[in-house]
Amino acid sequence: MAELDRVRDFWEDHLNNEIYTDFERGSPEYFEDIERQRYRHHYHLVELFASLEGEAPDQKRLLEIGCGIGIDTLFLARLGFGEVVGVDLTEAAIAVASERARAEGGNALRFEVANSESLPFPDARFDLVYSFGVIHHTPSIENAIAEIHRVLAPGGRALVMIYHRHSLVDWIHRAFRLPYESPRDLEDHCPVVNRYSKAEARQLFSAFSGVEIHSDYPFTHGMRAVGLRIPVPLQRSLGRAIGWHLMIDARK
Ligand SMILES: C[S@@+](CC[C@H](N)C(=O)[O-])C[C@H]1O[C@@H](n2cnc3c(N)ncnc32)[C@H](O)[C@@H]1O
Repeated sequence: MAELDRVRDFWEDHLNNEIYTDFERGSPEYFEDIERQRYRHHYHLVELFASLEGEAPDQKRLLEIGCGIGIDTLFLARLGFGEVVGVDLTEAAIAVASERARAEGGNALRFEVANSESLPFPDARFDLVYSFGVIHHTPSIENAIAEIHRVLAPGGRALVMIYHRHSLVDWIHRAFRLPYESPRDLEDHCPVVNRYSKAEARQLFSAFSGVEIHSDYPFTHGMRAVGLRIPVPLQRSLGRAIGWHLMIDARK
């Protein structure tokens, strides 16, 4: 089986963020629970999204790549972007996201199935491309980054998170041979989970200008209880040194 098909099969069976809830998939409680828990832990996302509020988003077209069940997509749509499109490789995630969009998304938001390595959009179609925890799972991150560059308008902005190799999370996962993406099933490993140094990330985004990269978010799923006990300023300092998320901000 081709590697992309194996990646797709894995994610069809593992909807991201369901670790946060036991409510029935697609129910209002399911989304409320996930949203509350996700932003409680992902303090850096709350800060990132707040920073976008002042960017006159009603003029802008936003694409989220690898949106999963659309938690961030809906959060971003609420900021008032002119158009918001979420794409994901899997039918399962897009079905859940689309159902919610019909209920509470408004006209500017839609979801569709698409592969980050060959996006179904014309050149220069978007002002902002956001992708969080996705393109390190696709067989060719180079193809995915070339596609982000292609669909961005000149001057457009890419906000991308990929995993950081020099991080506490990676050291622990390698030492104990833990799977990165299925904390409820320790035998089930995502077929592609690449990790990068800051220098490698900078090289990957070399077609962009004004590239800023920092690491953040020192703990992940299995360490959630630890994270909640540590004040955010301390988590942020740890994150800058040994964080799991490489946060990339780049301009076309
Ligand atoms: C770790 S989840 C992240 C989901 C979401 N961005 C979030 O932060 O909750 C990875 C997602 O990337 C998607 N994905 C993996 N490879 C992809 C590809 N080549 N094209 C589009 N989506 C892909 C998976 O289907 C999955 O929904």
